[in-house]
Amino acid sequence: MAFSERIPIKTRREIDIMREASRHVAEILLELRHMVAPGVRTADLEDHAAKAIKDRGVQSSFKGYDPHGLPKYPSSLCVSVNEEIVHGIPGPRELKEGDIVGIDFGVSVDGYHGDSAVTVAVGNIDERVRKLLDTTANALCLAIEKMLPGNRLSDIGHAVQTRAEREGYSVVRVFAGHGIGSKLHEPPWIPNYGSPGRGPRLIPGMVLAIEPMVNIGGADVVMLEDEWTAVTADGSLSAHFEHTILITEEGPDVLTRIEGSH
Ligand code: MF3
Ligand code: CO
Repeated sequence: MAFSERIPIKTRREIDIMREASRHVAEILLELRHMVAPGVRTADLEDHAAKAIKDRGVQSSFKGYDPHGLPKYPSSLCVSVNEEIVHGIPGPRELKEGDIVGIDFGVSVDGYHGDSAVTVAVGNIDERVRKLLDTTANALCLAIEKMLPGNRLSDIGHAVQTRAEREGYSVVRVFAGHGIGSKLHEPPWIPNYGSPGRGPRLIPGMVLAIEPMVNIGGADVVMLEDEWTAVTADGSLSAHFEHTILITEEGPDVLTRIEGSH
């Protein structure tokens, strides 16, 4: 995906549906956050998500996702622990006190998607690790504040990078935010770094998923043998937060934010 590809502008109807999909995402993600505790298996989170999807009559955006040349994604959730950056596959691993766990979740309603992620502490965590979570969440907030009509696409990534690097952290470069709509991933590709003032102007009706991935150590990524799980090359901890955001005349409307969520 490049800056030159057309960024879809959503109709009123599409926005209404995406708002509903995003609300389901936010509500279920909040339930999952509250389940996180020492001894919980990542598969327990997946089981809860799969049941919630069924109960609400919505569709998983992730399960069966078929990127060219990779195995289909097998689960409705991505659960990424500690040095895992994104796309961890739920399984028998038990969470333990002091871990951090990224939970990434998406559903569709009538073919339109919502996508959000949060990284949470398992029990008590070190001050140093808390700072990574707070900084990454704050980087997402600062990026969202830049999502005003007339601003440029690269203002988003610039805000993330500036905030993360101020603490000596690095942003992951091989993954990025993305447009979202009738496909989970639409143009544009939205890197979490770069110079401000570049790329297309933001226009009301664009819906973008912004997802900073921030490492305490270096930015380099290694893929595990499952061909999905991305980990930091240096084994350092990584945090990931994501929201689906509609650009409006009045400013950013965070579709995946509800009371009590990140
Ligand atoms: N939020 C992630 C992303 O936008 C989740 C994708 S998992 C996948 O990349 F299976 F759907 F690829
Ligand atoms: Co996403």
